Amino acid sequence: MSRIAYVNGRYLPFAKAKVHVEDRGYQFSDGVYEVCEVRGGQLIDGRRHLERLKRSLGELNIRMPMSARALGVVMREVVARNRIGYGIVYLQITRGVARRDHAFPANEVRPSLVVTARTLNKARNEALAERGIAVVTVPDNRWGRVDIKTIGLLPNVLARQTALERGARDAWFVDAHGIVTEASSANVWLVTSDGTLITRHADNAILRGITRTVLFDAIRAEGLTVEERAFTLQDAYRAREAFITSASQIVLPVVRVDDRVIGDGKPGPVTIALRRAYRRFAEAG
Ligand code: PDD
Repeated sequence: MSRIAYVNGRYLPFAKAKVHVEDRGYQFSDGVYEVCEVRGGQLIDGRRHLERLKRSLGELNIRMPMSARALGVVMREVVARNRIGYGIVYLQITRGVARRDHAFPANEVRPSLVVTARTLNKARNEALAERGIAVVTVPDNRWGRVDIKTIGLLPNVLARQTALERGARDAWFVDAHGIVTEASSANVWLVTSDGTLITRHADNAILRGITRTVLFDAIRAEGLTVEERAFTLQDAYRAREAFITSASQIVLPVVRVDDRVIGDGKPGPVTIALRRAYRRFAEAG
């Protein structure tokens, strides 16, 4: 079956899905994106992802190309046309096409909208979650507004590549004060020796993950305690459990950070329980 992409109003075969060379996303990374999980052919937490998208666009003064409701319709249509049961849908909006000039285009341009979807390998993701992953740490050299989900991801790309080259699966960013901010494309969580969950407070130094937000409901339901605060790499080394959260992996156990084994080197009970509990609080539709 051939893949279909939505590009500026049209559903096109993948090979024909193209944007202009002077698209400001291509020239300047002047755009934002969202990634939504698809399960049972349904968008997971689509409403929340679209709310965050609206905020990201607002912070960059890019207008919504259509209403959140209409964007939801396009996303579902792309999922359906690609027959995705389990996978992800990707949505990107840039400021549009204009003659290359750093300042915003003087004349109103139409934002570019692209939506794609693809199947993920469920068995492989489950196997990964059963084993847990190793991560390495890298200096957080990103700009000061990573709370905006922009397509400018070069430090994240380099961090992930460094992880793979060092035999790990992902990288955690650590700032100049030794504070762990987040992973290359996920939020970071610890379970301390007394069973308390810790995740960094959502300021300009991390993306406020949708999975992160929903997980707070699961944590409360499980009767667990959570603290939203900065934590150091030393805290991580001493943690009983660690995991990362994102739309594509939900709750993924971390069993090694740099050369330190976390806990007993296996996914811990709190992490496993939360991975399961998450499903009860995610919105499908
Ligand atoms: N990444 N932090 C960063 C830097 C991210 O890129 C992501 C998501 C998250 C988690 O956000 P959420 O729970 O809303 O997925 C945190 C997506 C999945 C990606 O870039 O593929």
